[in-house]
Amino acid sequence: MYDGGKIITGLVIGLALLLFPFFYTAGKAARAPERELTAKAKEAEKCIEATAFMKTGHMKLLDEWRDEVVRDADRYYTSNLTGEVHYKSIQVTCMECHSNKTKFCDRCHTYAGVDPFCWDCHIAPKESE
Ligand code: HEC
Ligand code: HEC
Ligand code: HEC
Repeated sequence: MYDGGKIITGLVIGLALLLFPFFYTAGKAARAPERELTAKAKEAEKCIEATAFMKTGHMKLLDEWRDEVVRDADRYYTSNLTGEVHYKSIQVTCMECHSNKTKFCDRCHTYAGVDPFCWDCHIAPKESE
C-alpha cells in the first residue's frame, strides 16, 4: 500500500509551485501604473475636466475636438470644470501639460493594451528624459 496522503500533499505543493509565477504576475498586473505629472500639470492642479471624466472620457473628447475642428473650424473649448478656454488640439493643449508622454499617456496605454495611432501624424512632445 502506498501513502495516498503524501501523494496528495506532494501534488498540492507541486501545483502551488507551478502556479506561483502566474498568481505573482497577476497580482502585480492588477495594480495600475503610478501616473506621473509634470511640474506644469502639478502647478495647474486640475485637468481640463474632472479627473474621473478624463480617465474614461479623454478619447471621446479628443474625437469630438477633431470633428469640430475639421468639420466646423470650431477651435475653442470651454472647460465645464474651470471655465477656462482651451485650443482644441492634442498637440498644443494636452501635451502642453502632459509633455511627459512616455510616462503619462504611454504608460497607461501600455497597461491597458491600447496604442493610439495619433502620433503617426500629430507631433509628439520632445522629452528630456
Ligand atoms: C492645464 C494642464 C492640463 C491640460 C491642458 C490637460 N491636462 Fe490632463 N491632467 C492635468 C492634471 C493636473 C491632472 C491630474 C488631476 C488630478 O490629480 O486630479 C490630469 C489628469 C489627466 C488624466 C487622468 C489620469 C489619471 O490617471 O487619473 C487624463 C487621462 C488626462 N489628464 C488626459 C488629458 C488629455 C487627453 C488632455 C487634452 C485633451 C489633457 N489631459 C489636458 C493637467 C492637464
Ligand atoms: C489612466 C489611464 C490613461 C491615461 C493617463 C491616458 N490614457 Fe488614453 N486611453 C486609455 C484607455 C484605457 C484607452 C482605450 C479606451 C477604449 O478603448 O475605450 C485610451 C484611448 C486613447 C485614445 C483613443 C485611441 C483609439 O485608438 O481609439 C486616445 C487618442 C488617447 N487615449 C489619448 C491619450 C493621450 C494623448 C494621453 C496623454 C495626454 C492619454 N491618452 C492618457 C487610458 C489612458
Ligand atoms: C493621417 C494623419 C492623422 C492621424 C493618424 C490623426 N490625425 Fe488628427 N488631424 C490630422 C489633420 C491633417 C488635422 C487637421 C489639422 C488642422 O486643421 O489644424 C487633424 C486635426 C486633429 C485635431 C484638431 C486640431 C489639432 O491641431 O489638433 C485633433 C484634436 C486631432 N486631430 C486628434 C487626433 C487624435 C486623437 C488622433 C488619434 C486617435 C488623430 N488625430 C490621428 C491628421 C491626423
